[in-house]
Amino acid sequence: MSYKSIRWIKIIGTGFYVPDKILTNADLEKMVDTSDEWITTRTGIKERHIASPEEITSDLAIEAGRRILKDAGLTVDDIDLIIVATSTPDTIFPSTACWVQRGLKADHIPAFDVSAGCTGFIYGMILAESLILNRTNKRILLLGSECLTKITNWNDRNTCVLFGDAAAGVVLEATEEDCGMLSSYWKADGNLGELLIQPGGGVRQPCSQEVLQQELRYLSMRGNEVFKHAVKCMGEAAVEVVKKAGLQKEDIDYLIPHQANARIIDATGRRVKLDKEKVISIIHKYGNVSVATIPIALHEIKESGRLKPEDIIVMVAFGAGFTWGAVTYKW
Ligand code: ACO
Repeated sequence: MSYKSIRWIKIIGTGFYVPDKILTNADLEKMVDTSDEWITTRTGIKERHIASPEEITSDLAIEAGRRILKDAGLTVDDIDLIIVATSTPDTIFPSTACWVQRGLKADHIPAFDVSAGCTGFIYGMILAESLILNRTNKRILLLGSECLTKITNWNDRNTCVLFGDAAAGVVLEATEEDCGMLSSYWKADGNLGELLIQPGGGVRQPCSQEVLQQELRYLSMRGNEVFKHAVKCMGEAAVEVVKKAGLQKEDIDYLIPHQANARIIDATGRRVKLDKEKVISIIHKYGNVSVATIPIALHEIKESGRLKPEDIIVMVAFGAGFTWGAVTYKW
């Protein structure tokens, strides 16, 4: 392929991995003061997968990576960069991507993490596009992997019903075909960082007896505030990214919003003025698995046979930072 004829970057493999253990709303009823009815009506979640004590973020990512490469008909020797989006890294350093590189035996290819909360997969797509189109890399394994349940306070009913663990991703390469990533949009607002945060464990509040006693190692969020911003920002990002691609909302075949809450998903769809059947929702099965939600949804609609060549997909996310962003993709 001549670089002059390259038009876009294209997804050539998809896949995901979730741990075996499933925690249902009925299980949660036995753990905290909640009910299946509350969780279902407020969030749409019915069950989520939970990593075992031995399983960590890189383990999930390595298994997802193997499945994605298999789906693409590739081996690890065919990729030349690994990007892992995560907010729950195995270690603060080295990066989880380096642990994944070791696990996949992808010797010496570069590897790094992206930290952009639940928007990490979208940020990763945007980075991958620029690295491929500027000829730095040819074929990138982009993974989103998260073990949010390991930073969940299981005594806090406000948060413990929301999250699950998963890894998912794509392989990306350049294409001269008339398909691929058409446009992108990304934003952040650090002024709102405290609203969704893991306060302890970094250098601001290093791990100590006090941090443990005050439960600062757990994810903390102001759910109502996050909700309002998520709907506004994802709606804005989806509208803008479609405009940037020179398309209209009527051209959208599927909207894949980050899956944080069924009401956020529905409200984002309404902001973009899309029919409900075009808005993908898988949250009932997995809960909020952060960076993995969009690539799992993409893999599932692909495997279901619903995706046709030239379908226009808008993927849009919002997360800690705050960060938000979107891409328009022609299948
Ligand atoms: N079961 C029963 N009652 C509960 C539960 C529960 N699990 N959780 C909260 N409640 C109660 C509250 O205590 C409150 O009771 P009160 O009125 O007596 O004080 C009541 O339900 C209503 O609480 P709200 O917080 O107002 O409920 P809301 O309708 O806002 O739903 C939720 C809460 C589901 C958290 C919602 O705000 C939300 O989804 N926010 C966005 C979450 C999100 O997107 N997170 C971002 C991603 S995470 C990441 O980026 C890593």
